[in-house]
Amino acid sequence: MKILVCDKTEASAIERMRQAGLTVDVRDDITPEELSVVIKDYDGMVVRSRTKVRAPLIDLAPNLKVIVRGGVGLDTIDADYARSKGITVMNTPLSSSASVAELAIGFMFALARSIYAATSSMKAGKWEKKKFEGDEIAGKTLGIVGIGNIGKEVAKRARALGMEVIAYDPYASMPEGVKSVSLDELLSSSDYITFHLPLTEETRNMIGVEAFARMKPGVRIINCARGGIVDEDALYDALVSGRVAGAALDVFAQEPCEGHRLFTLEQVIGSPHIGAATHEAQKRIGAEVADKLIEYYQRMR
Ligand SMILES: NC(=O)c1ccc[n+]([C@@H]2O[C@H](COP(=O)([O-])OP(=O)(O)OC[C@H]3O[C@@H](n4cnc5c(N)ncnc54)[C@H](O)[C@@H]3O)[C@@H](O)[C@H]2O)c1
Repeated sequence: MKILVCDKTEASAIERMRQAGLTVDVRDDITPEELSVVIKDYDGMVVRSRTKVRAPLIDLAPNLKVIVRGGVGLDTIDADYARSKGITVMNTPLSSSASVAELAIGFMFALARSIYAATSSMKAGKWEKKKFEGDEIAGKTLGIVGIGNIGKEVAKRARALGMEVIAYDPYASMPEGVKSVSLDELLSSSDYITFHLPLTEETRNMIGVEAFARMKPGVRIINCARGGIVDEDALYDALVSGRVAGAALDVFAQEPCEGHRLFTLEQVIGSPHIGAATHEAQKRIGAEVADKLIEYYQRMR
């Protein structure tokens, strides 16, 4: 069985797949154009978020039987279309939950104490003690939109920090200590709102002008889920008006996004989609990709 690894994947995982009898080609910087030429030769592909697997590519892949997405979001793959062609689509749902949750919690502290702005001020040779009076996290209300694997990890950590945790998720059961609320109640009563739900037709631009108008003045927003869930223009206006006191973003409607106008605002901090980019998560993702492909191969032999 011939597998094409299209994105960066742990060397130990590739080694294990080869030892199990799979033929593995690694082209982790392959372009979409190159991929569309070679994909016809492969039975399986391993992708991360960089490589998009859309219907036209699937149509060029008559031998493709399995796609493994290292990571969570399947929004980069036309999964239903692939399945309609008999292709198995798998991901590694739990491998990066702790890493993303830690980034969201880190962002919350960074926003509460203006850590980035204070550091920039120090690096500019200043001592602006009065400017950087912050807030405690303890006792504040955290609203979690989407309480799946990552949302639950965030909730656990936030409760340990003494926060009140509420969540909106029409499809999930609430973990202990988390109050289920409507989206309206979450928007109007949270001091911090963090998003941990997929980007779907239902969730695209779910947080726009009207949602910001219902939020508590001074709320802080964290998005480590997907760009496009929070309308970036509406967020910009809400930051400029002061309704939103700060925002921390790991994901953007268009990625990569050098020179994004949100980053002209001092109260915005962020990172280039690094939620799952920890050594621990990468190792777990690689191991889970290898486990799933080897198991699939052994089952199909
Ligand atoms: N920043 C990163 O690098 C990074 C890494 C991993 C995952 N993610 C993103 O985080 C998201 C969440 O990951 P997860 O592992 O917790 O997924 P999950 O499937 O375990 O949880 C998602 C939750 O969202 C809920 N949901 C779906 N539609 C909703 C809606 N309209 N309103 C409220 N809740 C809704 C689901 O019921 C589910 O409980 C992923 O979809 C992915 O896009 C980002």
